[in-house]
Amino acid sequence: MCGIVGYLGPKKAKEVILEALKRLEYRGYDSAGVAIFTDGRIEVVKTKGKIARLEELLKERDLEGGLGIGHTRWATHGKPNDINAHPHRCGPIVIVHNGIIENYAELRRSLESEGIDFYSETDTEVVACLISKKYRGNLFEAVVEAVEELEGSYAIVALSEKEPGVMVAYRKDSPLVLGVGEEEYFVASDIPALLPYTNRVIPLEDGECALMTERGYEIYQGGGRVKAKKEPKFISWSPALAEKAGYKHFMQKEIFEQPRAVADTISSLFSPDDGSFGLFEEDFAQVIKDVKRIRLVACGTSYHACLVSRYWFDRFSKIPVEADIASEFRYRDISFGEGELCIFVSQSGETADTLAALRICKEAGCLTLGVCNVMESTIAREADSVVYTLAGPEIGVASTKAFTTQLVVLFLLSLYVGMTRGVITKEDIVQIAEPLVYIPGYIDEALRLDEQLKELARKFMKKEHFLYLGRYLNYPIALEGALKLKEISYIHAEGYAAGEMKHGPIALIDENMPVVVLAPKDKVYEKVKSNIEEVKARSGVVIAFTDRDNRELEGKCDYVFYLPKAKEYLTPFVYVVPLQLFAYHVAALKGCDVDQPRNLAKAVTVE
Ligand code: M6R
Repeated sequence: MCGIVGYLGPKKAKEVILEALKRLEYRGYDSAGVAIFTDGRIEVVKTKGKIARLEELLKERDLEGGLGIGHTRWATHGKPNDINAHPHRCGPIVIVHNGIIENYAELRRSLESEGIDFYSETDTEVVACLISKKYRGNLFEAVVEAVEELEGSYAIVALSEKEPGVMVAYRKDSPLVLGVGEEEYFVASDIPALLPYTNRVIPLEDGECALMTERGYEIYQGGGRVKAKKEPKFISWSPALAEKAGYKHFMQKEIFEQPRAVADTISSLFSPDDGSFGLFEEDFAQVIKDVKRIRLVACGTSYHACLVSRYWFDRFSKIPVEADIASEFRYRDISFGEGELCIFVSQSGETADTLAALRICKEAGCLTLGVCNVMESTIAREADSVVYTLAGPEIGVASTKAFTTQLVVLFLLSLYVGMTRGVITKEDIVQIAEPLVYIPGYIDEALRLDEQLKELARKFMKKEHFLYLGRYLNYPIALEGALKLKEISYIHAEGYAAGEMKHGPIALIDENMPVVVLAPKDKVYEKVKSNIEEVKARSGVVIAFTDRDNRELEGKCDYVFYLPKAKEYLTPFVYVVPLQLFAYHVAALKGCDVDQPRNLAKAVTVE
């Protein structure tokens, strides 16, 4: 889950790489480093900690060269210290790597038996030494030979001190994108890292190797053996989308971008006036007609979006639907049947478990659909079809605008599938989807609770535990609220289906336990009200969220916040927003690193 980058061109590689690394820092921030070709030598500068520390070190170094590689690390093998930081060098070879080499211990033993000494605990140094062993003056050939012996997932960028104008990149199961500029070439783990320099990109596929020299780039497939012709694709994201724009944190900016992101996603996929969809190409639309079952697979926040959508598929598509966590799904022995549509929801489009699940379903002959935010990401490319969320780059590790835009796509899909199955008509769709157009405005209104929620955060920031309760469509929102709080503020928080409280968690409740309750006036409202009574009877502190026109919780709860009244089936869009804001303020007030919480990375590209 590291971020890697490479540059070859007329600019100062040091500056380009630092800028790109800052954009990749969300992928890991245990250590950072660069290797720059300067005066016939490759100079490596690396350090434990964040890129800011590396930047300080680099100020003292006069590295002028136009060829270099860089790395920001999320530690897998070996502690996060200076020695284990990338780039790694072995003989003339210097590399950066993202992924995990599963057979590194065997390879290391074998290389040690040949007299090679290792200085670090990393699997990456083993790769550097393997390439070095194969090296006979041609970096490209050495990389291609070395990767044949590697097992696991890896994206590698390599330099050789003996070949000053050459950079080689290889990809297997870890993302890598080639950027094409004016007589300059870039590689990076994702597209936003390249946006300040170029919008022309070529995502590398598994088994592809890119050779970049001052004369141009070449791409080879089949493990680097067969030359391929691949033209760059134009990506319309602007670099400004990946900047903070005056907000203190990316997460805060991304929470506030939701009205725009949701509105853009709706209008790109659906026309509320006539109920027409722009979800798929014609050939996919044809096959989707025969779908008999839907499987939704994802991780983390994206999984919560799937859980919400189950209620929509039940109601509007009348089709059997399951939602699975990808890391569990991939180890089940599933008996797939005829007509299965498997939907893989992933902001990054690179999550290793979700990708593995996609490959299992493809192998089983299922129809596959990706719901992704990052264009041209692996899941987007490997699924039979993809629907993009138009959230724009999401940089904060805590996912926010990706979630609400995923909800848009899944809601529209549930209507679409219902229509193809003859469960609902075009006229029904116009009617059911009509309230969707108000959602951006409702989110905007929910955002106005910002100051009040900051006050609430101030009161509760010292608490050690939280319980989040929701029911029906807002049960997954309770899970999501708890996930947001724990991942950025390090406060233990549990999301629970309110009806399950009596089956265990009620034992936790006392005057020290804040309980966040989601109580829109929907079909389970009366039940949730009873749950509130049960918490209050045990002296729990209740923080409730309810519809603006519902004043009856006032005397029953310690705190009540009012939200715009959305149509019952659309309440998750609105109720998630204050939970995001609350988590954000708690973390910011506690002085936590909101955008880069400890131990986490934005894209989990290892299992
Ligand atoms: O990129 P993906 O949507 O596949 O990522 C899935 C999870 O890793 C992600 O949602 C994670 O749970 C976030 N940190 C939650 O805020």
